Amino acid sequence: MDLPTSVANKRLTAWLSPLDATLTENWGWGYSSHFGTLKAAPGINRAQPDRAASPSAPPKPARISVLSSRCCLRFGEESEPGMTARILDGTKIRDQIFAELKDEVRLLTAAGVRPGLAAVLVGENPASQLYVKSKIAACEEIGLSSALLTPPATVTTLELLAVIEDLNRDNNVDGILIQLPLPTHVDTKRILEAVDPAKDVDGFHPVNLGRLVSGRPGLVACTPAGCMEILRRNTIKIEGANAAVLGRSDIVGKPMALLLMHANATVTICHSKTRDLPEVLGRADIVVAAMGKAGFVQADWIKSATGGGPGAAVIDVGTNRVTDLREAEHLFRNFPDRLEKFRAKGSALAGDVHPDAINFAGALTPVPGGVGPMTITMLMSNTVKAARLRRASPKFSATQPAATAR
Ligand code: GUN
Repeated sequence: MDLPTSVANKRLTAWLSPLDATLTENWGWGYSSHFGTLKAAPGINRAQPDRAASPSAPPKPARISVLSSRCCLRFGEESEPGMTARILDGTKIRDQIFAELKDEVRLLTAAGVRPGLAAVLVGENPASQLYVKSKIAACEEIGLSSALLTPPATVTTLELLAVIEDLNRDNNVDGILIQLPLPTHVDTKRILEAVDPAKDVDGFHPVNLGRLVSGRPGLVACTPAGCMEILRRNTIKIEGANAAVLGRSDIVGKPMALLLMHANATVTICHSKTRDLPEVLGRADIVVAAMGKAGFVQADWIKSATGGGPGAAVIDVGTNRVTDLREAEHLFRNFPDRLEKFRAKGSALAGDVHPDAINFAGALTPVPGGVGPMTITMLMSNTVKAARLRRASPKFSATQPAATAR
Protein backbone atom coordinates (compact mmCIF):
# COMPACT_ATOMS: atom_id res chain seq x y z
CA MET A 1 0.00 0.00 0.00
CA ASP A 2 1.12 3.55 -0.68
CA LEU A 3 2.23 5.68 2.19
CA PRO A 4 -0.57 7.76 3.62
CA THR A 5 -0.85 11.30 2.42
CA SER A 6 0.30 12.52 5.76
CA VAL A 7 3.55 10.66 5.41
CA ALA A 8 4.32 12.83 2.44
CA ASN A 9 4.21 15.64 4.93
CA LYS A 10 7.69 16.35 6.19
CA ARG A 11 6.69 16.80 9.81
CA LEU A 12 5.09 13.41 9.94
CA THR A 13 7.80 11.70 7.99
CA ALA A 14 10.33 12.89 10.53
CA TRP A 15 8.40 11.20 13.32
CA LEU A 16 7.36 8.08 11.49
CA SER A 17 9.67 5.67 13.19
CA PRO A 18 9.84 2.28 14.82
CA LEU A 19 9.80 1.50 18.50
CA ASP A 20 12.41 -1.07 17.93
CA ALA A 21 15.39 -0.39 15.70
CA THR A 22 15.33 -3.91 14.30
CA LEU A 23 12.00 -3.17 12.70
CA THR A 24 12.97 -0.03 10.86
CA GLU A 25 12.79 -1.51 7.42
CA ASN A 26 9.31 -2.87 8.06
CA TRP A 27 7.78 0.27 9.44
CA GLY A 28 5.08 2.30 7.81
CA TRP A 29 1.75 1.61 6.22
CA GLY A 30 1.14 -1.93 5.15
CA TYR A 31 4.46 -3.06 6.58
CA SER A 32 4.99 -6.60 7.66
CA SER A 33 5.93 -6.75 11.31
CA HIS A 34 7.58 -9.42 13.36
CA PHE A 35 6.49 -8.51 16.82
CA GLY A 36 5.12 -11.94 17.59
CA THR A 37 2.24 -12.55 19.92
CA LEU A 38 0.45 -9.95 21.97
CA LYS A 39 1.73 -9.35 25.45
CA ALA A 40 0.26 -7.57 28.40
CA ALA A 41 2.27 -4.43 29.02
CA PRO A 42 3.66 -4.45 32.53
CA GLY A 43 3.53 -1.66 35.01
CA ILE A 44 0.42 0.08 33.78
CA ASN A 45 -2.92 0.62 35.37
CA ARG A 46 -5.59 0.69 32.73
CA ALA A 47 -7.90 2.16 35.30
CA GLN A 48 -7.26 5.70 36.41
CA PRO A 49 -6.13 5.20 39.99
CA ASP A 50 -8.45 6.85 42.43
CA ARG A 51 -5.64 8.15 44.55
CA ALA A 52 -7.79 9.17 47.48
CA ALA A 53 -9.19 5.67 47.86
CA SER A 54 -9.03 4.39 51.39
CA PRO A 55 -6.39 1.76 52.21
CA SER A 56 -7.20 -1.90 51.80
CA ALA A 57 -9.10 -3.46 54.61
CA PRO A 58 -7.08 -5.84 56.77
CA PRO A 59 -6.82 -9.33 55.39
CA LYS A 60 -9.76 -11.56 56.18
CA PRO A 61 -9.47 -15.32 56.48
CA ALA A 62 -10.29 -17.06 53.21
CA ARG A 63 -13.22 -19.45 53.04
CA ILE A 64 -11.65 -21.59 50.41
CA SER A 65 -12.27 -25.07 51.75
CA VAL A 66 -15.88 -24.33 52.66
CA LEU A 67 -16.88 -22.89 49.32
CA SER A 68 -14.84 -24.69 46.75
CA SER A 69 -17.07 -27.74 46.37
CA ARG A 70 -20.16 -25.56 46.01
CA CYS A 71 -18.74 -23.46 43.24
CA CYS A 72 -17.04 -26.29 41.47
CA LEU A 73 -20.37 -28.04 41.00
CA ARG A 74 -21.84 -24.99 39.33
CA PHE A 75 -18.94 -23.89 37.21
CA GLY A 76 -16.64 -26.87 37.28
CA GLU A 77 -16.49 -27.27 33.52
CA GLU A 78 -14.51 -24.09 33.11
CA SER A 79 -12.64 -23.91 36.38
CA GLU A 80 -9.24 -25.20 37.26
CA PRO A 81 -9.19 -28.03 39.80
CA GLY A 82 -9.67 -26.65 43.29
CA MET A 83 -10.76 -23.28 41.95
CA THR A 84 -14.27 -22.09 42.32
CA ALA A 85 -15.31 -19.20 40.07
CA ARG A 86 -15.83 -19.70 36.39
CA ILE A 87 -12.91 -18.08 34.64
CA LEU A 88 -13.87 -15.37 32.16
CA ASP A 89 -11.02 -15.82 29.72
CA GLY A 90 -10.24 -12.60 27.85
CA THR A 91 -7.63 -14.27 25.67
CA LYS A 92 -10.20 -16.70 24.31
CA ILE A 93 -12.61 -13.88 23.50
CA ARG A 94 -9.81 -11.89 21.89
CA ASP A 95 -9.12 -14.85 19.61
CA GLN A 96 -12.80 -15.11 18.67
CA ILE A 97 -13.09 -11.39 17.91
CA PHE A 98 -9.81 -11.34 16.00
CA ALA A 99 -11.12 -14.16 13.80
CA GLU A 100 -14.32 -12.17 13.16
CA LEU A 101 -12.35 -8.99 12.42
CA LYS A 102 -9.97 -10.78 10.06
CA ASP A 103 -12.95 -11.88 7.96
CA GLU A 104 -14.38 -8.39 7.95
CA VAL A 105 -11.05 -6.79 7.05
CA ARG A 106 -10.64 -9.28 4.21
CA LEU A 107 -14.05 -8.28 2.82
CA LEU A 108 -13.40 -4.58 3.24
CA THR A 109 -9.96 -4.84 1.65
CA ALA A 110 -11.43 -6.74 -1.30
CA ALA A 111 -13.90 -3.86 -1.67
CA GLY A 112 -10.99 -1.40 -1.78
CA VAL A 113 -11.14 -0.24 1.85
CA ARG A 114 -8.19 -1.33 3.93
CA PRO A 115 -8.76 0.09 7.39
CA GLY A 116 -5.75 1.89 8.86
CA LEU A 117 -4.67 2.94 12.33
CA ALA A 118 -2.21 5.73 13.09
CA ALA A 119 -0.61 5.58 16.53
CA VAL A 120 1.10 8.61 18.04
CA LEU A 121 3.62 7.75 20.72
CA VAL A 122 5.29 10.76 22.32
CA GLY A 123 8.62 10.28 24.06
CA GLU A 124 10.16 7.06 25.29
CA ASN A 125 8.04 5.76 28.15
CA PRO A 126 8.90 2.03 28.11
CA ALA A 127 5.42 0.91 29.22
CA SER A 128 3.79 3.03 26.50
CA GLN A 129 6.26 1.67 23.96
CA LEU A 130 5.28 -1.87 24.86
CA TYR A 131 1.61 -1.03 24.66
CA VAL A 132 1.91 0.59 21.26
CA LYS A 133 4.07 -2.23 19.99
CA SER A 134 1.28 -4.66 20.91
CA LYS A 135 -1.29 -2.47 19.18
CA ILE A 136 0.72 -2.33 15.97
CA ALA A 137 1.27 -6.11 16.14
CA ALA A 138 -2.49 -6.58 16.51
CA CYS A 139 -3.07 -4.47 13.37
CA GLU A 140 -0.67 -6.71 11.51
CA GLU A 141 -2.41 -9.82 12.80
CA ILE A 142 -5.85 -8.85 11.59
CA GLY A 143 -4.75 -7.21 8.35
CA LEU A 144 -5.07 -3.52 9.13
CA SER A 145 -2.53 -1.05 7.86
CA SER A 146 -0.76 0.91 10.54
CA ALA A 147 1.58 3.82 11.01
CA LEU A 148 3.53 4.87 14.04
CA LEU A 149 4.52 8.45 14.73
CA THR A 150 7.06 8.99 17.47
CA PRO A 151 7.52 12.69 18.24
CA PRO A 152 10.12 13.42 20.91
CA ALA A 153 9.09 14.14 24.51
CA THR A 154 9.88 17.82 23.84
CA VAL A 155 7.08 18.16 21.29
CA THR A 156 4.78 21.11 21.94
CA THR A 157 1.00 21.10 22.10
CA LEU A 158 0.87 23.14 18.90
CA GLU A 159 3.15 20.76 17.05
CA LEU A 160 1.04 17.80 18.14
CA LEU A 161 -2.12 19.60 17.09
CA ALA A 162 -0.62 20.01 13.62
CA VAL A 163 0.12 16.26 13.47
CA ILE A 164 -3.45 15.45 14.41
CA GLU A 165 -4.76 17.88 11.84
CA ASP A 166 -2.78 16.03 9.16
CA LEU A 167 -4.04 12.64 10.35
CA ASN A 168 -7.62 13.93 10.49
CA ARG A 169 -7.39 14.90 6.83
CA ASP A 170 -5.73 11.72 5.68
CA ASN A 171 -8.20 9.38 3.99
CA ASN A 172 -6.06 6.33 4.62
CA VAL A 173 -6.26 6.90 8.35
CA ASP A 174 -9.45 5.52 9.89
CA GLY A 175 -8.32 5.48 13.50
CA ILE A 176 -6.06 7.82 15.47
CA LEU A 177 -4.58 6.65 18.74
CA ILE A 178 -2.76 9.10 20.98
CA GLN A 179 -0.97 6.95 23.51
CA LEU A 180 -1.36 8.28 27.03
CA PRO A 181 0.09 9.64 29.20
CA LEU A 182 1.43 12.60 27.27
CA PRO A 183 4.27 14.67 28.77
CA THR A 184 2.96 17.05 31.43
CA HIS A 185 3.72 20.18 29.37
CA VAL A 186 1.32 18.99 26.66
CA ASP A 187 -2.35 19.92 26.99
CA THR A 188 -3.81 16.43 26.85
CA LYS A 189 -7.46 17.52 26.77
CA ARG A 190 -6.82 19.86 23.86
CA ILE A 191 -5.00 17.12 21.98
CA LEU A 192 -7.73 14.54 22.51
CA GLU A 193 -10.40 17.02 21.50
CA ALA A 194 -8.53 17.75 18.27
CA VAL A 195 -8.99 14.18 17.02
CA ASP A 196 -11.80 13.85 14.48
CA PRO A 197 -14.59 12.07 16.44
CA ALA A 198 -15.06 9.77 13.43
CA LYS A 199 -11.45 8.58 13.89
CA ASP A 200 -11.45 8.59 17.70
CA VAL A 201 -10.93 4.85 18.12
CA ASP A 202 -10.10 5.31 21.82
CA GLY A 203 -13.57 6.80 22.37
CA PHE A 204 -12.09 9.65 24.43
CA HIS A 205 -13.53 12.59 22.46
CA PRO A 206 -16.35 14.52 24.21
CA VAL A 207 -18.54 13.98 21.13
CA ASN A 208 -18.26 10.22 21.51
CA LEU A 209 -18.74 10.45 25.27
CA GLY A 210 -21.86 12.55 24.62
CA ARG A 211 -23.15 9.95 22.17
CA LEU A 212 -22.63 7.30 24.81
CA VAL A 213 -24.48 9.34 27.42
CA SER A 214 -27.45 9.78 25.10
CA GLY A 215 -27.39 6.16 23.93
CA ARG A 216 -26.52 7.00 20.31
CA PRO A 217 -24.09 4.97 18.21
CA GLY A 218 -20.47 6.09 18.38
CA LEU A 219 -16.99 4.90 19.25
CA VAL A 220 -16.82 3.63 22.83
CA ALA A 221 -13.72 3.56 25.04
CA CYS A 222 -11.94 0.24 24.53
CA THR A 223 -11.60 -1.10 28.08
CA PRO A 224 -15.26 -0.70 29.09
CA ALA A 225 -16.37 -1.94 25.66
CA GLY A 226 -14.14 -4.99 26.24
CA CYS A 227 -15.70 -5.59 29.66
CA MET A 228 -19.14 -5.61 28.04
CA GLU A 229 -17.94 -8.15 25.46
CA ILE A 230 -16.68 -10.37 28.27
CA LEU A 231 -20.06 -10.25 29.99
CA ARG A 232 -22.07 -10.77 26.80
CA ARG A 233 -19.95 -13.54 25.33
CA ASN A 234 -20.16 -15.40 28.63
CA THR A 235 -23.95 -14.89 28.65
CA ILE A 236 -23.90 -13.16 31.98
CA LYS A 237 -27.29 -11.60 32.56
CA ILE A 238 -26.99 -7.83 32.66
CA GLU A 239 -30.63 -6.80 32.40
CA GLY A 240 -32.04 -6.28 35.88
CA ALA A 241 -28.69 -7.03 37.53
CA ASN A 242 -27.30 -4.90 40.34
CA ALA A 243 -23.93 -3.69 39.07
CA ALA A 244 -21.25 -1.94 41.10
CA VAL A 245 -18.52 -0.03 39.26
CA LEU A 246 -15.53 0.84 41.42
CA GLY A 247 -13.71 3.88 40.09
CA ARG A 248 -15.06 6.91 38.25
CA SER A 249 -12.39 7.69 35.66
CA ASP A 250 -13.38 9.17 32.31
CA ILE A 251 -11.70 6.26 30.54
CA VAL A 252 -13.15 3.30 32.43
CA GLY A 253 -15.53 3.94 35.34
CA LYS A 254 -17.89 6.48 33.79
CA PRO A 255 -18.29 4.84 30.36
CA MET A 256 -18.57 1.42 32.03
CA ALA A 257 -21.43 2.62 34.21
CA LEU A 258 -23.20 4.08 31.17
CA LEU A 259 -22.82 0.89 29.14
CA LEU A 260 -24.20 -1.21 31.98
CA MET A 261 -27.06 1.23 32.48
CA HIS A 262 -27.94 1.14 28.77
CA ALA A 263 -27.96 -2.66 29.06
CA ASN A 264 -30.61 -2.24 31.80
CA ALA A 265 -28.49 -2.96 34.86
CA THR A 266 -29.06 -0.95 38.04
CA VAL A 267 -25.69 0.69 38.47
CA THR A 268 -23.94 2.03 41.56
CA ILE A 269 -20.73 3.99 40.94
CA CYS A 270 -18.40 3.62 43.91
CA HIS A 271 -15.42 5.77 44.74
CA SER A 272 -13.14 6.79 47.54
CA LYS A 273 -15.94 8.49 49.46
CA THR A 274 -18.45 5.67 49.10
CA ARG A 275 -19.72 4.54 52.48
CA ASP A 276 -19.81 0.86 53.40
CA LEU A 277 -18.37 -0.55 50.22
CA PRO A 278 -18.66 -4.17 51.45
CA GLU A 279 -22.39 -3.65 51.83
CA VAL A 280 -22.74 -2.22 48.30
CA LEU A 281 -20.66 -5.03 46.82
CA GLY A 282 -22.59 -7.63 48.79
CA ARG A 283 -25.67 -6.72 46.74
CA ALA A 284 -23.91 -6.59 43.38
CA ASP A 285 -24.47 -9.29 40.77
CA ILE A 286 -21.80 -7.67 38.60
CA VAL A 287 -18.69 -5.98 39.99
CA VAL A 288 -16.32 -3.97 37.80
CA ALA A 289 -13.21 -3.04 39.74
CA ALA A 290 -11.25 -0.21 38.14
CA MET A 291 -9.57 1.87 40.79
CA GLY A 292 -5.97 0.80 40.29
CA LYS A 293 -5.13 -0.60 43.74
CA ALA A 294 -3.78 -4.13 43.93
CA GLY A 295 -6.09 -6.50 45.81
CA PHE A 296 -8.21 -3.66 47.19
CA VAL A 297 -11.52 -5.51 46.85
CA GLN A 298 -11.57 -8.14 49.56
CA ALA A 299 -12.72 -11.59 48.58
CA ASP A 300 -15.51 -11.82 51.12
CA TRP A 301 -17.05 -8.53 49.96
CA ILE A 302 -18.12 -10.37 46.81
CA LYS A 303 -21.58 -11.90 46.65
CA SER A 304 -21.15 -15.65 46.71
CA ALA A 305 -23.51 -18.35 45.49
CA THR A 306 -24.67 -19.30 48.95
CA GLY A 307 -27.85 -17.24 48.64
CA GLY A 308 -29.11 -19.45 45.82
CA GLY A 309 -27.97 -17.10 43.02
CA PRO A 310 -24.95 -17.79 40.87
CA GLY A 311 -22.57 -15.51 42.77
CA ALA A 312 -21.29 -12.22 41.37
CA ALA A 313 -19.53 -11.88 38.03
CA VAL A 314 -16.36 -9.96 38.78
CA ILE A 315 -14.60 -7.98 36.06
CA ASP A 316 -11.18 -6.95 37.30
CA VAL A 317 -9.77 -4.08 35.25
CA GLY A 318 -6.73 -3.53 37.49
CA THR A 319 -3.31 -4.41 36.14
CA ASN A 320 -1.01 -3.50 39.00
CA ARG A 321 2.62 -4.47 39.11
CA VAL A 322 3.46 -5.63 42.62
CA THR A 323 7.10 -5.49 43.65
CA ASP A 324 6.84 -5.56 47.45
CA LEU A 325 7.36 -9.01 48.98
CA ARG A 326 4.98 -8.47 51.90
CA GLU A 327 2.25 -7.30 49.57
CA ALA A 328 2.86 -10.30 47.32
CA GLU A 329 2.73 -12.65 50.32
CA HIS A 330 -0.63 -11.15 51.32
CA LEU A 331 -2.07 -11.28 47.80
CA PHE A 332 -0.84 -14.73 46.87
CA ARG A 333 -1.17 -16.38 50.31
CA ASN A 334 -3.31 -19.12 48.79
CA PHE A 335 -1.47 -19.30 45.46
CA PRO A 336 1.96 -20.82 46.12
CA ASP A 337 2.77 -21.03 42.40
CA ARG A 338 2.16 -17.32 41.92
CA LEU A 339 4.18 -16.49 45.01
CA GLU A 340 7.03 -18.62 43.78
CA LYS A 341 6.97 -16.86 40.41
CA PHE A 342 6.98 -13.54 42.22
CA ARG A 343 10.07 -14.60 44.21
CA ALA A 344 11.83 -15.71 41.03
CA LYS A 345 11.01 -12.57 39.08
CA GLY A 346 10.80 -9.92 41.77
CA SER A 347 7.43 -8.70 40.54
CA ALA A 348 3.99 -9.91 39.54
CA LEU A 349 0.76 -8.54 38.14
CA ALA A 350 -2.27 -8.32 40.39
CA GLY A 351 -5.75 -7.02 39.80
CA ASP A 352 -7.80 -4.67 41.94
CA VAL A 353 -9.62 -7.66 43.39
CA HIS A 354 -7.90 -9.90 45.91
CA PRO A 355 -7.04 -13.22 44.19
CA ASP A 356 -8.92 -15.14 46.92
CA ALA A 357 -12.13 -13.85 45.29
CA ILE A 358 -11.90 -16.86 43.03
CA ASN A 359 -13.34 -18.81 45.96
CA PHE A 360 -16.29 -16.45 46.39
CA ALA A 361 -17.33 -15.10 42.98
CA GLY A 362 -19.53 -16.94 40.52
CA ALA A 363 -17.32 -15.84 37.64
CA LEU A 364 -14.13 -13.84 37.46
CA THR A 365 -11.69 -12.35 34.98
CA PRO A 366 -8.10 -13.42 35.73
CA VAL A 367 -5.22 -10.96 35.92
CA PRO A 368 -3.42 -11.24 33.61
CA GLY A 369 -5.51 -12.72 30.80
CA GLY A 370 -8.93 -11.21 31.50
CA VAL A 371 -9.66 -7.59 30.64
CA GLY A 372 -6.09 -6.88 29.47
CA PRO A 373 -6.31 -8.57 26.06
CA MET A 374 -9.72 -7.00 25.47
CA THR A 375 -8.50 -3.40 25.38
CA ILE A 376 -6.40 -3.94 22.28
CA THR A 377 -9.10 -6.15 20.81
CA MET A 378 -11.68 -3.39 21.07
CA LEU A 379 -9.20 -0.91 19.61
CA MET A 380 -9.01 -3.14 16.54
CA SER A 381 -12.78 -3.49 16.50
CA ASN A 382 -13.24 0.29 16.75
CA THR A 383 -10.78 0.87 13.91
CA VAL A 384 -12.68 -1.48 11.62
CA LYS A 385 -15.97 0.08 12.72
CA ALA A 386 -14.60 3.59 12.12
CA ALA A 387 -13.49 2.58 8.62
CA ARG A 388 -16.88 1.10 7.84
CA LEU A 389 -18.85 4.08 9.13
CA ARG A 390 -16.62 6.86 7.88
CA ARG A 391 -16.07 5.49 4.42
CA ALA A 392 -19.76 4.74 3.96
CA SER A 393 -20.67 8.27 5.02
CA PRO A 394 -21.72 10.75 2.31
CA LYS A 395 -19.40 13.27 3.97
CA PHE A 396 -16.46 11.05 3.12
CA SER A 397 -16.53 11.76 -0.63
CA ALA A 398 -17.79 15.32 -0.23
CA THR A 399 -15.05 16.58 2.07
CA GLN A 400 -12.24 14.23 1.25
CA PRO A 401 -12.33 13.68 -2.51
CA ALA A 402 -8.94 12.06 -2.84
CA ALA A 403 -6.12 11.15 -0.56
CA THR A 404 -3.69 13.40 -2.36
CA ALA A 405 -5.94 16.41 -3.00
CA ARG A 406 -5.25 18.70 -0.11
N1 GUN B 1 -2.54 4.43 28.03
C1 GUN B 1 -2.90 3.40 28.83
N2 GUN B 1 -4.01 2.80 28.35
C2 GUN B 1 -4.37 3.47 27.25
C3 GUN B 1 -5.44 3.34 26.31
O1 GUN B 1 -6.30 2.46 26.42
N3 GUN B 1 -5.44 4.24 25.29
C4 GUN B 1 -4.51 5.22 25.17
N4 GUN B 1 -4.63 6.05 24.14
N5 GUN B 1 -3.51 5.38 26.02
C5 GUN B 1 -3.45 4.52 27.04
